[in-house]
Amino acid sequence: MKLFLTICLLSISTMLLAQKTFVSSSPNHAIILKVSIAENGNVSYASSYKNKPIIEPSLLGFSLNKPQIFLNKFDVVNVDSSSVDETWKPVWGEVSSIRNNYKELKIRLKDKNNAQNLLNIIFRIFDDGIGFRYEFPQESAVKHFIVGDELTQFNLTGNHKTFWIPGDYDTNEYLYNTTKLSEIDALKAAQKEKDIALQAVIGTNTVQTPLMMKTADGIYLNIHEAALVNYPAMNLALDKKTFTFTSHLVPDAVGNKAYLQAPFQTPWRTIIVSDKATEILSSKMILNLNEPSKITDVSWIKPQKFIGMWWEMHVGKSNWFKEGNKHGANTENVKRYIDFASKNGFDGVLVEGWNEGWEDWFGNWKENVFDFITPYSDYNIDILTDYAKQKGVKIIMHHETSGSATNYERYFDKAYQFMKDHNMNTVKTGYVGRIIPRGEHHDSQWMVNHYQRVAEKTAEYKIMVEAHEPVHPTGLHRTYPNWLANEAARGNEFNNAPTLGLVPEHETILPFTRLMGGPMDYTPGFFHFQLNQYDTSRKTRVRTTLAKQLALYVTMYSPLQMAGDFPENFNKYLDAFQFIRDVPVDWDDTKILEAEPADYITIARKAKGKSNWFLGAITDENSRKTSLKLDFLDDNAKYEATIYQDAENADWQTNPAAYKIEKKIVTNKNTLELSLAKGGGCAVSFVKL
Ligand code: NOJ
Ligand code: CA
Repeated sequence: MKLFLTICLLSISTMLLAQKTFVSSSPNHAIILKVSIAENGNVSYASSYKNKPIIEPSLLGFSLNKPQIFLNKFDVVNVDSSSVDETWKPVWGEVSSIRNNYKELKIRLKDKNNAQNLLNIIFRIFDDGIGFRYEFPQESAVKHFIVGDELTQFNLTGNHKTFWIPGDYDTNEYLYNTTKLSEIDALKAAQKEKDIALQAVIGTNTVQTPLMMKTADGIYLNIHEAALVNYPAMNLALDKKTFTFTSHLVPDAVGNKAYLQAPFQTPWRTIIVSDKATEILSSKMILNLNEPSKITDVSWIKPQKFIGMWWEMHVGKSNWFKEGNKHGANTENVKRYIDFASKNGFDGVLVEGWNEGWEDWFGNWKENVFDFITPYSDYNIDILTDYAKQKGVKIIMHHETSGSATNYERYFDKAYQFMKDHNMNTVKTGYVGRIIPRGEHHDSQWMVNHYQRVAEKTAEYKIMVEAHEPVHPTGLHRTYPNWLANEAARGNEFNNAPTLGLVPEHETILPFTRLMGGPMDYTPGFFHFQLNQYDTSRKTRVRTTLAKQLALYVTMYSPLQMAGDFPENFNKYLDAFQFIRDVPVDWDDTKILEAEPADYITIARKAKGKSNWFLGAITDENSRKTSLKLDFLDDNAKYEATIYQDAENADWQTNPAAYKIEKKIVTNKNTLELSLAKGGGCAVSFVKL
C-alpha cells in the first residue's frame, strides 16, 4: 500500500504540476478515490466505481464562527496510508459476524493562512463505499471553536433518480418523493404534509440523509453519515446547476452549528455504492465506521418482541389521559394485554398513558409536564408488576417527554430507578413537539448529545432503549447495543394520519433510506384495515394487505419488533398471527434476494442459533410475481415451508385481509413461485425437519 501510494504521488503530482493528488482504492479496486490539493489550497476528493465516475471533484473544509476563519485552503503536511481487515461479532443483528475491510488515507493539512491551524481528513475506502471524516488535532492552534458551516460537497455526475424527503431540523416523518435531482422541491413536498406534529423545513433544495439515488447507467448511491456524536445532523443542500450537494448542519438556538474542542473528530460522511440494489441493503459500512461496544457486560441486552397498549389510543378506542371511562392504561386492561403477551410468547407489553401529565402534554412548549414516576390512580403499578412477573413478561416503560429534554434529564436517575424497582428493563422514549431547551431542534448538537446521554444513562441501569422522534440513526447501536431501535421516520402509525397517510411503496423505500442508519420501530402487524372501528367518523385505513404486514417482520429489520394491533384484532386471524409468534428478532444470516427502491424487496434470514429460515417479500402498489431459488437453505436438509400469501383476489384497497396459508416440504434445490397482490406481500417460515 505504501509503495503504491508513493508511485501514484510521484506520477500524478508531476503530471498535474502545481496540483498534488493522492490516490487510493477499495480492497477489490472497484472504487478509486482521488484527493487533490490545488495550487490555491482547495482540497477536493473525487471517486469512480468500476471505471465510471460517481463523485466529481468535491470541495472539503469549514467556516468557523470562532475564531472567525475559513479552513478551506491548505498545504499538505504529510499523508499516511494503512489498511484493516478484521471480523467482529455484533451483540445482535442481521448477521452473526461482520467483516471490516478497508484502506485508509489520512491527509494532514495546515491552513495556508496560518500554518499553526491544522486539520486532518481521514478517508476509508471499502468495497461497498467510502467514508471520510475531519479531525481537529490536539496540536492545532484552533483549540476551542464554533462551527459556522461544514463545507463538504458531494458533486454528482448527473441528474440522478432520487428518493428523498425534505430537509428539516425537527422531523424525519415525511413521505418519500421519487424525482430527478433537478425536480426536487422540498418546500412544496413539506407543505403537503399536514399531520406532522412539528416541521422546521429548510428550503426548496434541501433534503435529508440517508439519501438514495440511482444513476442513468444503473449505479445505486447512498449518502449518509456514521457515528453522529457531539455534532448536529447533516442535511444536504443541492445546487441544481451542477448537481452538487453541500452539507447543511442543523443550527442551535443562536444559529451556531457546533461547539467543539480539539482533539475532535466529526461524524463520517458516507457514500455507499453498488450496481446492485441488493448490495446497498447488505452493506455494513456504516456499522463498521462506528466504535465497538462501550458496554462490556452485554448479557442483559436482549432483542425482543412486544405488544402494546398503544394502537387502541391511536384509533380512538381509549385515551392516554384519564377522563371518563376511556383511560386505556387501567389495571384491568393492562392485565388483558399481559395475558395475551404471555399466552403468545411475547417478551414485553408497552404501556402508554400510565403516568400523570397527559391532560396537558401536547403543543404548549411546557417544561414540566411529566415526572416519569407518578402513575394514574387507576393504574396499580404494584399489582401489575407482580402480575407481569407471574406471567413471565416484562412491562415496557414509556417516557414521553413532550420535547422537554431538560425535564427528562432532571428525572433520569429517579425514572430509571423506578423502572428497576418495578422490574422493567426497556423504555420507549418520545419527543413530540418543540424542544426544550427552547430554540434547540430535534437534530441539533445539544439534542444529539441528549440522545447519547439517554443511551449511556440507561446502560448504567442495564436498561434497553428505543427513541421516537429522535435524530436519524447513524450506526451508534454498535457502540451502544442497549439502544435497540428508533422511530426517526414515518412509521406504520401514519396509516392513521388523516391527510396523506402512507402509500404502498413506503416500505420498499425505507430500507434504502432511513434503515441504512439502524433499526426502526416501525410497529408492523396491523390486522384491521379500516381504522373506524371505534370512531366511525375516521376515514383512515392501512395501505397494505395482511400478508404484507407479516412480511414486514423480515423486510424491516429490527431487534425490537412490535405487534402493532390489539388482541381483539389478532384473535380474528390466529392462523396468520402464528407467523408473528414464530418470527425471530435476531439473526445469524441475511440474504437480500431481490430489491429495487420504491418497487419491491425480498429478504431471507436465518434465525439466531437455529436452522430455521424466514422470508419476507413485499411489493408496492403493483402486483408482482417472482420465482425464488431456495439455495440459501442448508444442503441435504428438508424444511417444512409455511407460506402466508395474498389470496388471488387480495388487493390493499379492496380486499386487504384476503390471505391463504399453504404448507410444503422443500429443499435448497427447489424454487418457490410467489404471487403478491397490489400493495401485498408474502411471509414464509422454513422449519428444518
Ligand atoms: C408519537 C409516537 O410515535 C407514538 O408511538 C406515541 O404513541 C405517541 N407519540 C405518544 O407518545
Ligand atoms: Ca414503484
